[in-house]
Amino acid sequence: ADTAILNIINKYAPDPKWEFPRNLLIIEQTLGEGEFGKVLRAKAMNIAGQQGHTTVAVKTLKDDARESELNDLLSEYQLLKEVSHPNVIRLLGVCTTPGGPIYLIIEFAEHGSLRNYLRRSRHLKSECGRLPTSAVDETEIHYDEPNISKVTPKEILSFAWQICKGMAYLSEIKLVHRDLAARNVLLAADKVCKISDFGLTRDIYEDDAYFKKSKGRVPVKWMAPESLSDHIYTNKSDVWSFGILVWELVTLGATPYPGIAVQNLFHLLKQGYRMERPDNCSPTLYNIMRSCWHIDPEQRPTFQELSALWEKMLSDEV
Ligand code: ADE
Repeated sequence: ADTAILNIINKYAPDPKWEFPRNLLIIEQTLGEGEFGKVLRAKAMNIAGQQGHTTVAVKTLKDDARESELNDLLSEYQLLKEVSHPNVIRLLGVCTTPGGPIYLIIEFAEHGSLRNYLRRSRHLKSECGRLPTSAVDETEIHYDEPNISKVTPKEILSFAWQICKGMAYLSEIKLVHRDLAARNVLLAADKVCKISDFGLTRDIYEDDAYFKKSKGRVPVKWMAPESLSDHIYTNKSDVWSFGILVWELVTLGATPYPGIAVQNLFHLLKQGYRMERPDNCSPTLYNIMRSCWHIDPEQRPTFQELSALWEKMLSDEV
């Protein structure tokens, strides 16, 4: 049988296990927009075994999306169906029936992206004081922030550990993320990290982290050298990106390789150049980052090994 055709048929066939009635979904507002897709906030009635209204996030296409974007959204749906881990974003349902747009209903993360959360936390003068709103990055989506506070070093470690556990799970089920970065990790209630935006979908939410190339946009500063040169993506290239993500955590959401143009990066990395240790980063943590940035993918640690290191670091901390 032609598996390509079977795949397409499967993608378009409604799956009663996941289908959610459109009339029980109330769209409230836009959380983010990309070139072809958008994420909305909505309320869903009695979804995924939860009584009453639940706030959810809804991924959908814009009106001018092309066939390939539809295909990407459906591919993401297929992937999300297969994953189940506390640190990976969860699918709650879909609307794929005729009579409306395609909606992927996913769990809502009340603090938004980890990158924005870290950057917002910088603006706090004290535990609960805020700077005037003019000091806050205007491009950010506004989230109601009942209990935003300064991010402690222990929390940084906890975020890294949670992301590591989610990634260890994804690698166990043979899924390569390809775009692991703080902007693609969501922060849910109780500061639980949820890895999102994995798989093939490459719609980018107007972020200058992505370098425009003929074939879409590429997150150069998060990419392993073998991905940049040979388009090789593996769990080991995800580990490289994880090292960059840890650097983002430590710097509370700074952009990697400050002052370095993406055009020069590959050459520099090949010559052995790596980011230096950030001011408030312990040598232990820096050594972990550096191990993720080994030029030889095989020499980089696995997410399982990294999880064990994190567990140890968190138990050593007082
Ligand atoms: N932005 C993108 N996806 C989101 C989600 N699941 N929850 C909250 N904000 C989001």
